Amino acid sequence: MRFAKFRLITLLFCLFSTLSAQEKSTIPEVQALLDQMTLDEKIGQLNLLTPGGGILTGSVVSKDVEKKIKAGQVGGLFGISGPDKLRLAQELAVNHTRLKIPLLFGSDVIHGYKTTFPIPLGMSCSWDLGLIEKAARVAATEATADGINWNFSPMVDIARDPRWGRIAEGAGEDPYLGSVIAKAMVRGYQGADLSENNTMLSCVKHFALYGASQAGRDYHTVDMGRIAMFNQYLPPYKAAVDAGVGSVMSSFNDVDGIPATGNKWLLTDLLRLRWGFEGFVVSDYTSLNEMIPHGLGNLQAVSILALKAGLDMDMVGEGFLTTLKKSVEEKKISEGEIEQACRRILEAKYKLGLFDDPYRYLEESRAKNEILTSENREFARTVASRSFVLLKNYNDILPLKKNSRIALVGPLADSRENMLGTWAPTGDAKWAITVLEGFKKVAPQASIRHAKGANITDDSVLAKKVNVFGPRIVMDKRSPVKMVQEALDIAKSSDVIVAVVGEATEMSGEAASLTDISLPKSQKKLIRALASTGKPLVLVLMSGRPLTIPEEYEMPIALLQVWHPGVEAGHAIADVVFGNYNPSGKLTATWPRNVGQIPIYHSVKNTGRPNPKEGYEKFKSNYLDVPNTPLFPFGYGLSYTNFEYSNLRLDKEQLKRGQTLQIKVTVKNTGNYDGETVVQLYLGDVVRSITPPKRQLKGFKKIMVKKGEEKEVTLTLTENDLKFYNNKLEFVAEPGEFVVHVGGDSNAQLARSFILVE
Ligand code: BGC
Repeated sequence: MRFAKFRLITLLFCLFSTLSAQEKSTIPEVQALLDQMTLDEKIGQLNLLTPGGGILTGSVVSKDVEKKIKAGQVGGLFGISGPDKLRLAQELAVNHTRLKIPLLFGSDVIHGYKTTFPIPLGMSCSWDLGLIEKAARVAATEATADGINWNFSPMVDIARDPRWGRIAEGAGEDPYLGSVIAKAMVRGYQGADLSENNTMLSCVKHFALYGASQAGRDYHTVDMGRIAMFNQYLPPYKAAVDAGVGSVMSSFNDVDGIPATGNKWLLTDLLRLRWGFEGFVVSDYTSLNEMIPHGLGNLQAVSILALKAGLDMDMVGEGFLTTLKKSVEEKKISEGEIEQACRRILEAKYKLGLFDDPYRYLEESRAKNEILTSENREFARTVASRSFVLLKNYNDILPLKKNSRIALVGPLADSRENMLGTWAPTGDAKWAITVLEGFKKVAPQASIRHAKGANITDDSVLAKKVNVFGPRIVMDKRSPVKMVQEALDIAKSSDVIVAVVGEATEMSGEAASLTDISLPKSQKKLIRALASTGKPLVLVLMSGRPLTIPEEYEMPIALLQVWHPGVEAGHAIADVVFGNYNPSGKLTATWPRNVGQIPIYHSVKNTGRPNPKEGYEKFKSNYLDVPNTPLFPFGYGLSYTNFEYSNLRLDKEQLKRGQTLQIKVTVKNTGNYDGETVVQLYLGDVVRSITPPKRQLKGFKKIMVKKGEEKEVTLTLTENDLKFYNNKLEFVAEPGEFVVHVGGDSNAQLARSFILVE
């Protein structure tokens, strides 16, 4: 009986996959092309190569690229740019292959093209969706002007482990914020019409759960239950799909024991059948081949697995190119399955307008006029200043007066090569503004003296690993003691010390995991020495991740977190330090007190033994050595002024399904500066069928309030905002009590309840 049932299911399954494999294109031009294509030509379209030149993230670089293009064995290229070079490549495809199918040109335009914006984690701290969308639009305009038509962005992996270097590339820990940012970026890249010459195909990555790799070690195992997946980790990918993203990149990690690249549940059942995705799926760099060391068989076997799972394009590995034909001959896969993948890629080319004009993105004049313009740089400066987070401002040290005598010290104070941040292969550090330059420009009346004070690290073994793409950590010839002394000497005759400290660019990003995320020892020594002078001290912190800085936090200083700010770094930092812009950034990833608290995030559950509000209690969920609370919570960030929240009210006490709840709160600027802030709404579901997080972000509004002014802010909640995936993975809102918290960070204190009624 069971056997018969199994046979029936298998039969239905085969029927279904054959049907879907034979699905015709709804685009007549694409179908006409498919009808003429040989098996080899179809397989060729599934092959994505990189001729080398850009940043290579794997050990393999494609060989004989020209020969393969002419042989119709390439569907796209990435890692090269410039209309001249790309025109040559396109000509090879168009003039030398039988069906003249144009190539896709991909690139990692992660935070700006040549106008480099702050790292994505930094940009997310602006909580400014318009700004983020515009940054993506500017990136698309520049990249398409340089011949690129397909972007491996946005990276939307939820990350709750700052040891993982790639936390820098995403929007932090929160699924709600991650989702709205994902949508904004897809809109920015793809615009309203993909065939415009300044819009590009977006690729959401890394599908899925890549940010949850164990112990924060890159490419490591992921092991997660479906409830966490659906409620916490999958929403931003789904948001990108809902926004119409044209392609998806499968991740390196496994999902429920099967690497994403060969995971049919993920790439077909969830992505296509449940979410309705209609674009194409590309692997990550050799992630198809990497299923061999993952333990899933040889290249032919893993290529079959990937194709059947729903992978359409193979990045660099050539597993599809070299094995699929054999697998068809051996009847292990059908030609229909290959055609399906090919169809999806051709449809993307069609939507980009490449069949109309393969050279659409290759106008030399655009490359000259539209890249790194002064207008784009000015915008990058604005974006950067909005991404900074003021963590502490002891005695209102900041903002500085423009005529101060300043000792500007620290290994990043006059560094150009560390301003752009990780994953900026299309930018160039030579265009970056250093902090020293920015200070001189913004405060010409100030007396500024500079000393390096310390190396980024004195650990030459670490420095060598970090310097893989060029000299980011330059070891000084002077001794560490001498360098600290030089800094102290100039500090003596200054009113204030500004120390620019933190991580080199490549200390975060891909394959840059750390087990210790405190400041390097060399810099800690410098900071201690500077603090001991008793002079007002400002630490400008640069990093690609949250750091553990409990010692520095205890010092009587100002702390301004600036991430890696991009090409306009120095100007933007000076704008904030000297008060041209009042900082408004809010953290999008929690800062732990120490690495032992990781993973750490705001939307935690209560547990059955909640920890006490203060102090330690035996047999409660707490630590012996530190409190459960982080050093800085999600959503946290100060301003040069103060904002007071009051008068929280809801327009109803009972909400019926389908209705909207209006939430009003008064925000008063009680300080001495005009300022922007982010009003945040967190929602707690008091009783439900699966254990709820204590509170979750469900809305926010960024507002400007002039000093002394009071504003009434309205936020709304709909039934959808009350929904979650229950243990049958249905998206439901369950009747009962909910608590709304509103305030300036995830500890928001004002609260009101309402009931959802049937
Ligand atoms: C990264 C991707 C990137 C790809 C192509 C990989 O190593 O994981 O994020 O898009 O390389 O450069």
